[in-house]
Amino acid sequence: MNQTKSASPGMTGSVISFPERGPWGDSKWRGNASGHVYRSLFEQVRPQVFVDPMVGSGTSVEVAREMGIEAYGLDLHQGFNAVSMDILNHVGKPADLVISHPPYGGMIKYTGPGGMWGDKADPGDLSHCADDAEFHEKMQMVLLNQRRATRPGGYYGTLIGDWRRGGVYTSYQAEMIARMPANELAAVIIKTQHNCVSDTKTYGAMKLPRILHEYLLIWEKRSVSAVVLLSTLVKEQGARVSGTWKNIVRLVLQGLGGRATLDKLYAAIAAAAPERLAENHHWREKVRQTLQLHTDLFRNEARGLWAVA
Ligand SMILES: C[S@@+](CC[C@H](N)C(=O)[O-])C[C@H]1O[C@@H](n2cnc3c(N)ncnc32)[C@H](O)[C@@H]1O
Repeated sequence: MNQTKSASPGMTGSVISFPERGPWGDSKWRGNASGHVYRSLFEQVRPQVFVDPMVGSGTSVEVAREMGIEAYGLDLHQGFNAVSMDILNHVGKPADLVISHPPYGGMIKYTGPGGMWGDKADPGDLSHCADDAEFHEKMQMVLLNQRRATRPGGYYGTLIGDWRRGGVYTSYQAEMIARMPANELAAVIIKTQHNCVSDTKTYGAMKLPRILHEYLLIWEKRSVSAVVLLSTLVKEQGARVSGTWKNIVRLVLQGLGGRATLDKLYAAIAAAAPERLAENHHWREKVRQTLQLHTDLFRNEARGLWAVA
C-alpha cells in the first residue's frame, strides 16, 4: 500500500488504475478522487498554473501545490458557481490546465438533506439538475468556461463516470464530447474505479456488467477567437443534425421497400418519432430538403414519388 506523498504509479497509457487514493484531500468527501490521478496527469502535462473549479475536499490542489504548481481551487461550497461565474476573472490569469470533477448527475447529492454540505438543496448544485438534459447543457457551459480560462495551447478537461439506474444508462462523457469542439479533443483516458458505493450493493441477476470505470477527458484549446469557436460548434452540430435526417429518411424509405410516395414517407416518419416531430412544425420541409439534397442516396421517380438511389 502506497500512501506516501512523493510516489505515484504514473500514467503510461490511456488506461489508468490507482487503487489507493493517497493522503491528499478528504477520503470522507463523497465522490472524491485519488490524488494519484492528478499527480500522474501533472507529471504528464507539467502545468505551471492549474485550476480546479469543483475542488471538493481539495485533492487536486493539494497535489499540485506539493509539486510546486500554482494552483487554484474553487467550488460551489465557497460560493463559486462554475456554470454562472467566470473562472478566468476569478483566478485572474489563464491557466495551463483546468480540470473539473463534477457530480455524476444526481448520483451523489452535494447539497440538501443527506448531502455533503448545506442543509438546503442549492439550485446551483449540479447534483440537483431536474434531468439529464439540464445537466448536459450546464456541463457544456462549465467546459466552455474552463476553456476560456485556459491559455491557448493549454488543456482543459473533466473527470466523469457513467450512471446506470432503473434501466437508464447515461454516458455523461459521450454527451460532453458531442458538445465540445471535435478538433480540440486531445485524450480519452479510462480510469478503473475502486471502492465505489455500488461495490457493496447486491446486483442479483443483472444481465449487463457493473460500471467499473470513469473517464478523464482532455481537450486542447486550439483557437482563441470566440467567433471561430461558435462557428465550429454550430457547423459540427449542424452536420450531426443533417446527417441524422439523411439516415432516418433513408432508413424509413428502405423500410417501405425502397420506394414510396411523400405521403407514405411522412406517415412512416411521423409514426416513428411523433413527439419530437410535433415540436418541429417544419419537419415535412426538412424531409423534402433531405431527399432533394442527397441525389447520391435518393431518386425522384415521379412527382411525389421517391426511391432509394
Ligand atoms: C465529485 S466532487 C469533487 C471531489 C474532489 N475531486 C475531491 O477529490 O474532493 C464534485 C464537487 O462539485 C461541486 N459542485 C456542484 N455544483 C457546482 C457548481 N455549479 N459549481 C462549482 N462546484 C460545484 C460540489 O460541491 C462538489 O464538491
